[in-house]
Amino acid sequence: MSPFRLTRTLPEDATDSALRADVLQGLTGSPRTLPPKWFYDARGSELFEEITGLPEYYPTRAEREILLARSGEIAEASGARTLIELGSGSSEKTRHLLDALTGLHTYVPVDVSESALTLAGRALAAERPGLNVHALVDDFTSHMTLPGTPGPRLVAFLGGTIGNLLPAERAAFLASVRAMLAPGDALLLGTDLVKDEKVLVRAYDDAAGVTAAFNKNVLTVINRELGADFDPAAFDHVAVWDAEHEWIEMRLRSRDRQTVKIPALDLAVVFGAGEDLRTEVSAKFRKERVREELDAAGLESARWWTDEEGRFALSLSVAR
Ligand code: SAH
Ligand code: TRP
Repeated sequence: MSPFRLTRTLPEDATDSALRADVLQGLTGSPRTLPPKWFYDARGSELFEEITGLPEYYPTRAEREILLARSGEIAEASGARTLIELGSGSSEKTRHLLDALTGLHTYVPVDVSESALTLAGRALAAERPGLNVHALVDDFTSHMTLPGTPGPRLVAFLGGTIGNLLPAERAAFLASVRAMLAPGDALLLGTDLVKDEKVLVRAYDDAAGVTAAFNKNVLTVINRELGADFDPAAFDHVAVWDAEHEWIEMRLRSRDRQTVKIPALDLAVVFGAGEDLRTEVSAKFRKERVREELDAAGLESARWWTDEEGRFALSLSVAR
């Protein structure tokens, strides 16, 4: 059994005040929005794990296929002694990378979901003697204080989670990743690719309704944390392809006109019949776009791999 440490960089009341600020800003604006990180309480993390196994949700399988085929090359190119994974969740696919990174000293999974981190981190530490696992409960869009572990560093950002950031947020995020790296350190980035609209929409609106439950779970989080009275059954889950921005937009559509009270914010929000609350975007990429965005952040694209069917890409870029 090797060491497992968990550091909560976010004080618990910071989470609370950030949630208040986000909900206040998002629900009083037009259109109404909510930022995606609030999906992932313990229940939300479980529901996401369930999504990864759905027949319609191809990204996880496609990315695993690439990792299985390419982890050796990634390990050789990076020579990493520290692997930092942002939005690590269950760390399931990361196992292939950990198997290949033979000289690894420390694995640093970073996630806002403390339950997912603890579950995954403990299991990994127990399975892999000699590997230090130092989990961080933190928001990867804010400034992160990383443990002082040996380089070279490899930062992994998998699952296509980068697509959940809006373009301006993405640019700021990539610049902050670059700032975590020394010249020669690397970023391994998973990006879902533009493809047939029907395939995309199905991946975010599955027949069993798991994605709908996941989307509505954010309302349950706000009910619990802020004493709100959202009725999840009064909203429909909607996934639409926005061809102009090339992203899938997840929404919750109010069935009827209704008023939702949020006592912790001293707020009442009126939703019109058919009014949408945007909960998440999931951007899909083309190779050139990924290269340009990395380049703008001071990261030089070195390798690009896709699965056999060309649905999903992993890229390895190096800090200049
Ligand atoms: N990497 C995993 C999980 C992807 S789901 C995979 O590929 O399957 C996205 C993960 O990012 C969740 O575990 C969620 O809790 C985490 N997450 C979302 N927003 C975050 C944020 N702002 N900061 C840190 N973690 C975040
Ligand atoms: N990173 C995942 C993605 O964009 C997150 C995700 C999958 C998601 N299904 C979802 C987020 C449904 C909200 C609703 O593919």
